[in-house]
This record gives sequence, C-alpha cells and structure tokens, in this order.
Amino acid sequence: MKEILKKAQKEHYAVGAFNFSTAEILKAIVAAAKELKSPIIAATSEGEGKFFGWREAVAMVEVWRHATGLPIILNLDHGKSLAMIKKVVAAGYNAVHFDGSGLPYAQNLTETCDVVKYIREVEKTFDRQIIVEGELGYLRGASSLHKEKLEIKESDLTSPEQALDFVERTGVDSLAIVIGNAHGVFKAGEEKLHLRRLAEIKEAVGDKVFLVLHGGSGIPAGDVKKAIELGIVKVNINTELRLAYKAGLDKELAEHPDETTPYKLLESSFEEVKKVVEEKIKLFGSENKV
Ligand code: 13P
Repeated sequence: MKEILKKAQKEHYAVGAFNFSTAEILKAIVAAAKELKSPIIAATSEGEGKFFGWREAVAMVEVWRHATGLPIILNLDHGKSLAMIKKVVAAGYNAVHFDGSGLPYAQNLTETCDVVKYIREVEKTFDRQIIVEGELGYLRGASSLHKEKLEIKESDLTSPEQALDFVERTGVDSLAIVIGNAHGVFKAGEEKLHLRRLAEIKEAVGDKVFLVLHGGSGIPAGDVKKAIELGIVKVNINTELRLAYKAGLDKELAEHPDETTPYKLLESSFEEVKKVVEEKIKLFGSENKV
C-alpha cells in the first residue's frame, strides 16, 4: 500500500482520494480508474462509513480490487479519535487519517503519537500495512457548496518548522497541510494556493512524509498541477463528486418524474461522478500508473 504513494512521490504525480457513501459512487470511481489505469484511494469520512457500513466498505473494495486488478487503498478520512481508528482497522481499512488539527499542538502531537503507536503494533502483529496520516493547520469549510466568501488567514497555514517537528516526533506516513485549501466549493472567491508555503514545507520535510492536499474541490487546476510538481502526492476530492451526483439525480427526476426504477434514476449520477473522477485522474497525472 505504501508503495503506491512512494511511486507517486518518486515520479511526481498524485493519487486521488475520492469519497463515497453509496455503492454506485464507489462503482463510478472504480470505473474511471479502470478506464484510465490509475491507482486510487477510496475514502469514507466517519459519517459516510457509518452509512455504508465499515465491513461492507472493506468487502466491496476487496471485490473491486479482484474484479479490476487495480491498486485501491481504502482510507478513513478525518478520523477524530483513537476509538474510531481502532474500529476501521478492525474492519480492514488500509489507511487512516487522524485529524487532530483542531486540538492544541501538544495534544495533537500526543494523540497522533498514540494512533501511530497503535497502527505500528497492528502492522507487526498481523503482518498488515496501514498508512497513517496526520494533520496540521486550520482547514476551513465542509464538503458542500458555500455561499459565503472564503477567508483564510496567514495563521491558518501549516508552518514548515512545525511540520518537520510533527513528522519527526509522530512518525506519520502522510501529512495533511493547509496552504490556502479548504473543504467545499466556494461560490464567492476561489481557493488560491500559497505555493511558496508549500515549497517551504517540502524543503523542511523532504521525502520523509507524503504531503496531502485536502479540500481538492474548487481549487483552480493550474494551482493543483503546480502543487503536485512541488510535492503533493495525495489530493482529496469530495464536494465535486457530491455536486455531480446531485446534478445527475436532479436531471433524471426532472426529465422522468414518473420513473421509479432506482438503477435508471441513478444512471446519470453514475456518469457525472465518473466524469469528475476521470478529469481529476488526468489532472493529477496518475493515468497509466498501474
Ligand atoms: P472537498 O470536499 O473540498 O473536495 O474536500 C474533500 C476532502 O478534503 C476530504 O477530506
């Protein structure tokens, strides 16, 4: 599993982490990856995983791995406690993101260290490989369409010195950083990345950690491309998939108000989500990397 991100780091592309909460969204993500021969990360937040079922998500991803031969990592997105991490690890997830970014720095350090210690024990005892991601900086927003203007303060951004300290003291495999990114799509004012800050963070941490860009929806493509050139190896996408899903469903319901067959009603959603994933895979440069 870690090899998937190592290869991306070495060859300067990024692997997309796409959130799902229903079977047809996962199917659309996998279909796009299969067509473009791309490795992918399928992700559930705590809420999405609870809705889908943790073991059910593991089983479904396993089926898709067998059916397609693709490297697919199943990741918990924004786990907020060690108890939650333990739950998904027991279910069989391959990657966990512990988000302690809302905690004071010392507490984030301590709690992330506890998570890493637990994961390393599981890896040793059960001969498994599990990727652990930590987070530093204040990531604003939520994965939806926002009417208000996005304002990111200098103090929200991840500090390069703290990033190095955090990576060395916790031993995380990946680090989510804040460089102007935010969750969601903002109608007023786009998300502009602070690429200089990213370069400084990369300079500080080198190849010790996989750098992760959350809030990938709504960031101009040119900025995402440059961020990948500067060292981002995982980009998280959720809101654009949600918007595509809803647009597809709205269209079907408007055009066929009497339709009652779920697989017909969901056909457009499937196609719209697949289209977004294809675009992102091409943008991230992970096409033909399996
Ligand atoms: P977006 O909803 O902005 O795409 O962010 C997704 C994300 O970062 C999941 O962790």
